[in-house]
Amino acid sequence: MKDNNSDWINQAWDLVEKKLSRVAISAREILPYTTENGKYVNCDADWWTNGFWPGMMWLMYDATKKNIYKETAETAEKLLDKALSEYDLLHHDVGFMWHLSSGANYRLTGNKKSYTRNMFAANVLAGRFNLKSGYIRAWNGEENKGFAIIDCMMNIPLLYWASEVEKDERFKYIAMSHADKTLEHHLRPDGSVTHLVEFDPLTGEIIKSHDGQGYKEGSSWSRGQGWGLYGFTLSYIHTKEQRYLDAAKRVAHYFISAVCNDWIAKCDFRAPDEPIIYDSSAGLIAACGLLELSKCVNELESKTYYTSACNIVKATIDNFTDFSDDTDAIVTHGTVAYHFGQKHINMIYSDYYFVEALNKLKGYNTFLW
Ligand code: GLY
Repeated sequence: MKDNNSDWINQAWDLVEKKLSRVAISAREILPYTTENGKYVNCDADWWTNGFWPGMMWLMYDATKKNIYKETAETAEKLLDKALSEYDLLHHDVGFMWHLSSGANYRLTGNKKSYTRNMFAANVLAGRFNLKSGYIRAWNGEENKGFAIIDCMMNIPLLYWASEVEKDERFKYIAMSHADKTLEHHLRPDGSVTHLVEFDPLTGEIIKSHDGQGYKEGSSWSRGQGWGLYGFTLSYIHTKEQRYLDAAKRVAHYFISAVCNDWIAKCDFRAPDEPIIYDSSAGLIAACGLLELSKCVNELESKTYYTSACNIVKATIDNFTDFSDDTDAIVTHGTVAYHFGQKHINMIYSDYYFVEALNKLKGYNTFLW
């Protein structure tokens, strides 16, 4: 069933390699988030997306062993030190930021300084645990003390890693408590997930759910569905607890049914037909989750997940890619949020998950989470 050498995968990988071997050098001194006039532009060191650029470079390095990628990844990791050294600049997305930069560096090269940075980030994430609610708190700010978001399922692999390398179960307890609460309150019976759950930070009592970056309350922000699908899969991979696998499958079935007409994700699966707002990143995050999920189940079940992931990646290639020489980003049609002013822009996370999906499809299977 696996198709590591099929033409479309090889062609896409070669185009990615051609483009990134140039951009890895031209964008070496920055932390890209989006583009202006076709070129990646720098963003502040504390921004949640800053692990994706070094993570993408590590995926390319592991696959090609070319030093240009390693050097760019190392430069980005050092640029992140500005955020690591200022407490106010740290938040729950330290998982996205350091596990894909320092965590990847340590995993692939054994770099001790990277280990320390990643452990520091893990301690910051663990410190955001609210004992009463059992959740890891999301954003900073007085008004955000009682918010937990689905995205954080992608931050907790940092805690599973810390537990494994330090042989210290505390990190895993926190990660599993957060995953269990997410299963209980974010995952809906139909397999969709809500973006945001609000709890009383003093009592832990659940107040209500919100669809933060989606269309409206009760809708279905597609990137959030992707975070849930991949996040529960990763919790299963790290713990082997059946309930996380079952949860991942529920979100996967919901996601597949939402995109199976054309394998393209709208920004919110429950938004009105017009205007059409896509989110290329949602499909690609889900595709990476589906590829991992396909390895967690038996052969009979696996095919649906693997084939659906291929369909999403193929549809992305056909509709949302730019392999030209005069631009930096590869994947178009990313979004920040349904109600964010600018739509269909280049987002670093669309590029990252495209490269991760192709890395898996090519059979390199570099695992950074
Ligand atoms: N984690 C923030 C987002 O997905 O936009």
